[in-house]
Amino acid sequence: MAQPIKIAPSVLSADFTRLGEQIQVAAEHGASQIHIDVMDGVFVPNITMGSLVVKAIRTVTNLPLDVHLMIIEPDRHLQAFVDAGASALTVHLEVCSHLHRTLQNIKLLGVRAGVAINPHTPAILLSEIIHLVDIVLVMTVNPGFGGQTFLPETLPKIRQIRQMVGERSVDIGVDGGIDADTTPQVLEAGANVLIAGNSIFAANGGIASGIKAIQQAITKD
Ligand code: DX5
Ligand code: ZN
Repeated sequence: MAQPIKIAPSVLSADFTRLGEQIQVAAEHGASQIHIDVMDGVFVPNITMGSLVVKAIRTVTNLPLDVHLMIIEPDRHLQAFVDAGASALTVHLEVCSHLHRTLQNIKLLGVRAGVAINPHTPAILLSEIIHLVDIVLVMTVNPGFGGQTFLPETLPKIRQIRQMVGERSVDIGVDGGIDADTTPQVLEAGANVLIAGNSIFAANGGIASGIKAIQQAITKD
């Protein structure tokens, strides 16, 4: 059965002086969940937000909070993000020496478990843990910044992962350069969670119009 298509605005591109308000606008106009990018300045070149921001966002919306951990040693911080109100924790395969254990730990904390892979990481590296995950997040840009250009070479990998998960109900997220143009391509390849920062929060016509453009690209598909 096909997985439901979800739109996940990434707050990295939001106006942080009006974060709560902007999240509420996104929620009212069709966001399925809120994507929160945690960066440590080590795994990726940028530093962004931590569990305090997740906790603050938890107070302004009931939507699931999808926390993308672009940090080394994520195990040290899982509990803090769950306590802050995360609904899903996604760790990067590239930083986990004991990925199987990390995914088990996330499940034990009672939230959905995700694994993210960078553009250079082959899908086959997921083969031994795929049965443990609720989410596979395919980076469609190199992680670290919003507003980068989608990498089309990631499309065959999305297709391959959808085949790997077969009938299981696993979300396949795509993150980076997702807009009305790239949406049909990633959906066709088998992705079902559209994570979008710039094309929503920096849309010319505002947040509602950014979401609407993606919704129209979904229905055109
Ligand atoms: C990038 C982050 C993304 C980012 C996507 O490392 O993981 O979630 O916000 O931004 P856009 O949609 O602007 O490419
Ligand atoms: Zn992200």
